[in-house]
Amino acid sequence: MVTTTWHDLLAWRSQQQQQAPEIDCQELDWLLREVAGVRVERQRWAAADDHLDLRCPLSAIADLWQKRIQHRCPVQYLAGHTPWRDLELQVSPAVLIPRPETELIIDLAIAWAQVDPERQTGYWADLGTGSGAIAIALALALPQITVLAVDASAEALAIAQRNAARYDLGEDRIRWYHGSWFEPLSAYRGQLQAIVSNPPYIPTHEWQQLEPEVRDHEPRLALESGPEGLNALKALAQTAPDYLRLPGLWLCEHMAGQGSTVAALLATIPGYAEIHSHGDLAGRDRFVSATWSA
Ligand SMILES: C[S@@+](CC[C@H](N)C(=O)[O-])C[C@H]1O[C@@H](n2cnc3c(N)ncnc32)[C@H](O)[C@@H]1O
Repeated sequence: MVTTTWHDLLAWRSQQQQQAPEIDCQELDWLLREVAGVRVERQRWAAADDHLDLRCPLSAIADLWQKRIQHRCPVQYLAGHTPWRDLELQVSPAVLIPRPETELIIDLAIAWAQVDPERQTGYWADLGTGSGAIAIALALALPQITVLAVDASAEALAIAQRNAARYDLGEDRIRWYHGSWFEPLSAYRGQLQAIVSNPPYIPTHEWQQLEPEVRDHEPRLALESGPEGLNALKALAQTAPDYLRLPGLWLCEHMAGQGSTVAALLATIPGYAEIHSHGDLAGRDRFVSATWSA
């Protein structure tokens, strides 16, 4: 532990912020909270000369902040971990930083499962598991399911497995598969209760224009999916019928604005029913669900 005063901390913070006025100062506060263990908002209840403890010296945070400014590296990669729902997940440039809007996919899945206890059992697939965020959250929320977590990136799977090991999930709750979408799951044809996925969905030309924090640091495999951004979503829609049992859930995240296209795509495949679009907290269309009923 390192000790400082609120006066010195706030003076240091202001100096750091002045070096990069273009970056939201909440990012520096995020580093202070996640790395040094300091909640800057607590200053409201403190006197300037009150002491506080930090988990590391401010010079260590200053070094990270310089990397944030100079290399445009996301703060979550600098810290090496990020909060997501009630989880704390290790992240590296091998995995997408799990986004707040993706937290809602878990609520949508749970709402579907709560309709019938039968739905809260069996095999659920998380296709494109990345950090393991969805697989771990589903396994924790639905204690009787077995999650089949798939990723094409072996490095991502290694991180996801480490993340899962930090939680008391019980024996054989998540099975890990390296490969492309359903390809490693051939033993589960016709047996999946649900598939839940946040696949890559950014069109190639939009990926090239993303801010450097995303384009130059997060894995392209996790983001870009062909000229319209729909390659992965099409593959998941077309192949899921071979794997879902009745009435299985198909639930995927997509880019805002793709909802009607994804819903129309599902509607062209006989057997999908109850096709619904769902918004995020800002009201943007971000998820499509359907049940397999053929
Ligand atoms: C948008 S990220 C989602 C990661 C994580 N599920 C989340 O929500 O934070 C998409 C993931 O799909 C994986 N992926 C891309 N193409 C794949 C494929 N053909 N088969 C399996 N996984 C793939 C990427 O490696 C990446 O981890």
